[in-house]
Amino acid sequence: MTKRQMILGMHLGNGYGSQTSAWRAPNVDPANYASFDAQVRYAQAAERGKFAFLFLPDFPGLEADVDHEAPSMTLEPMMTLAAIARATERIGLVATGSTSFNEPFNIARQFKALDVMSHGRAGWNAVTSSDPAAAANFGQTLASRPHRYQRAHETIQIAQALWGSWQQDAWIKDQKSGHFADPGKIQPINMQGEHVASRGPLPIPPSEQGQPVIFSAGGGGNGLELAGRYANGVIGATFTIDDARKQRQAYRDAARRAGRNPDEIKFFAGVMPAIGKSKRAALDRRVQLGELTAASRVAYLGSMLNLHLDAHQLDDPLTAQQLVAASPSPFDPRSPRALEVAREGWTIRDILAHGVIDYHPTPVGEASVTADHMQEWFEASACDGFWVSIDVNEDGVDTFVDEVVPLLQDRGIYHHDYDGTTLRDHLDAPAQYGLDPRLTDPTT
Ligand SMILES: Cc1cc2nc3c(=O)[nH]c(=O)nc-3n(C[C@H](O)[C@H](O)[C@H](O)COP(=O)(O)O)c2cc1C
Repeated sequence: MTKRQMILGMHLGNGYGSQTSAWRAPNVDPANYASFDAQVRYAQAAERGKFAFLFLPDFPGLEADVDHEAPSMTLEPMMTLAAIARATERIGLVATGSTSFNEPFNIARQFKALDVMSHGRAGWNAVTSSDPAAAANFGQTLASRPHRYQRAHETIQIAQALWGSWQQDAWIKDQKSGHFADPGKIQPINMQGEHVASRGPLPIPPSEQGQPVIFSAGGGGNGLELAGRYANGVIGATFTIDDARKQRQAYRDAARRAGRNPDEIKFFAGVMPAIGKSKRAALDRRVQLGELTAASRVAYLGSMLNLHLDAHQLDDPLTAQQLVAASPSPFDPRSPRALEVAREGWTIRDILAHGVIDYHPTPVGEASVTADHMQEWFEASACDGFWVSIDVNEDGVDTFVDEVVPLLQDRGIYHHDYDGTTLRDHLDAPAQYGLDPRLTDPTT
């Protein structure tokens, strides 16, 4: 049997990178927020590293303090992926799309068009959107969670049924006989849910992978059931191996409850590497990126350690008394790691540069430190792969691809090349066209 290998996805956001001050980093063009060429360059670099997919979060609105920060998302995920689709060949293209603020027909049409355009590389991260500010942009208030999740089930099922409404052998395109398609094989779906409905059909033929793959991210118990039924990929938010194993297992159990094989869901843990030629160099990179934000984060670091800390101490380590009094806050899962770093004697500025308040674990040091982290999590069955979030894309994607990827390959835990051509191939996801016949509770 061949050794199990990890699958990698790369986070694409605002065109700068995942650190909020990446737009100000040296050699970064501050206009990249509006540059599709920059996004294409990062996508091509990830493809060189044989990443299985790009993953674009989305929030339909403005969520940043634009006084100093760039918004964290792309201008528009489907437009971005359309540009990337035309300039790449193998890498999967996963965009987030809201089930609350889109009609299923729009979702089905846009994602399947992207799937056809990219020759079978599209994926849809189906989210309910849980921010009132997003709802306001559609002239709405946020619906209750049960309402949002009911609508999400209906929207996904209707989109999938629409994807199957043009049967796989419907397109005849025989110039001689003059038959374009078989109308008997392109039929309405007539699905009526409580919140959304569609008659169909959707006039789009199958792609090389049939139809787009479903992804899911977060969302508590409701999100778990949603992923269990439909998802082939889940992006997790988790800070320890133990927690990641539990989350991965919960998704696998949810898939089993839905009558699926648990291996059909791949769980991706986040990782936000800080890479430098030495640990000090990696920290300095983050210190520089955190220049404007460090002082404002000290109080929060204090709350994670159950201490009163203030910015005057930014360039000092915690005192002996503070270290004795410190304890990890139960309200933030990142607290034990923050305390561990504090006990190593770093200054508060350097503690923050370890990424202890970032959204995913941050291995800090040479490329091998990141490779070690990924190997440890993967071999502990904490994940099937990683969603890699680069601090500054301009040089960080290449550094990861040139320095971390070869280590993973040498260790036999990451592929040297793509085996297949579609996103479904890259995820080893089963063929599916239209609704999954194993789902016992269709909307109709
Ligand atoms: C790693 C991760 C990424 C997420 N990405 C998005 C996103 O891009 N857009 C979005 O609207 N929600 C995103 N979410 C939020 C979840 O989909 C979900 O809405 C949230 O956890 C709130 O749960 P609720 O819908 O049950 O209230 C993400 C969650 C996680 C854990």
